[in-house]
Amino acid sequence: MRALVTGGAGCIGSDLAGRLVKDGYEVAVFDNLSSGKQEHLKELLKNGKFRFIRADLLNRKQIGDACKNIDIVFHLAANSDIKYKEGDPTDEDLRLNTIATYNVLEAMRVNGVKKIVFTSSSSVYGEAGKIPTPEDYPLRPISLYAASKAACEAMIGAYSSMFGVQGWILRLANIISGKSRKKGKTVLTDFIEKLKQNQGELEILGNGRQSKSYLLADDCIEGIITALNKSKVELNIYNVGPEDFLTVNEIASIVTEEMGLKNVKFRYTGGDRGWPGDVPRFLLDTRKIRKLGWKPRHNSKEAIRISIKNLLNKG
Ligand SMILES: NC(=O)c1ccc[n+]([C@@H]2O[C@H](COP(=O)([O-])OP(=O)(O)OC[C@H]3O[C@@H](n4cnc5c(N)ncnc54)[C@H](O)[C@@H]3O)[C@@H](O)[C@H]2O)c1
Repeated sequence: MRALVTGGAGCIGSDLAGRLVKDGYEVAVFDNLSSGKQEHLKELLKNGKFRFIRADLLNRKQIGDACKNIDIVFHLAANSDIKYKEGDPTDEDLRLNTIATYNVLEAMRVNGVKKIVFTSSSSVYGEAGKIPTPEDYPLRPISLYAASKAACEAMIGAYSSMFGVQGWILRLANIISGKSRKKGKTVLTDFIEKLKQNQGELEILGNGRQSKSYLLADDCIEGIITALNKSKVELNIYNVGPEDFLTVNEIASIVTEEMGLKNVKFRYTGGDRGWPGDVPRFLLDTRKIRKLGWKPRHNSKEAIRISIKNLLNKG
């Protein structure tokens, strides 16, 4: 199998590309390095079954060329900076997620590529009335990022029914790893950076009581591969996450502890969420993917601690 991994220089994509090479795929990573890093691919670049294409999904010719002689696209490239601040452009998610995904699907259609794996997000449910939230719960996005992910899902559904493209849509919880990005901080890289600058005080967005679930990239990739290998209908939609959540306050305490800091004062920006469009509380119902035999090795708390250790070890 020949796979194209868009966003393959990113935190999840680079690990996924490595896993696919291990599983026997020939892998091409397509990435513009806007937030991903070539150093994430250092080892893979030595492998004869791997190649790197530095290109942009908004360039239709580049993605069209990359889709030639490909059997499956793992489409992970997206806008990583999901925190909206006043004054930010409002079309980033539309361009980098919705239009970029259309470009991928169109390039696939023209080149006869029939399988797409897409990383969607738990955020598509918005502030769901049912927690844990199952896959058949209505999608009510409350951010531009989530709206664009829902639009991508809908478009994959349309290409599936109109052009016979088989789709795997994974709605991911917060995914963390020991890797960092050029832009789009995670809660961990944000806290670590702030604490390196000021060891006495930590600014926490919102009131610290936001509750979210966290999954290690390795567990996430195992979930993606399980869904792909074991679920074979036209459109395969799965939540991927752990069964627990943590508050932002708990994360802040773990980070300060792992950094060996004492008496750090937490200062809150206030409100029940970190930024406009942030979903303050979510937990995915993952019974559907568990029935396929997937189970994460680590819960949210363990995932957070492991990632902090990895990030701190890398300096
Ligand atoms: N990390 C999470 O918590 C999380 C949660 C839910 C869903 N997701 C989704 O998983 C996917 C991967 O996330 P990640 O955390 O690895 O992010 P990431 O930023 O590390 O990776 C995204 C990659 O896409 C590349 N990219 C962005 N725009 C591009 C374009 N126009 N052309 C080519 N390359 C482009 C970036 O350079 C980067 O390498 C994304 O689709 C994201 O929305 C992530």
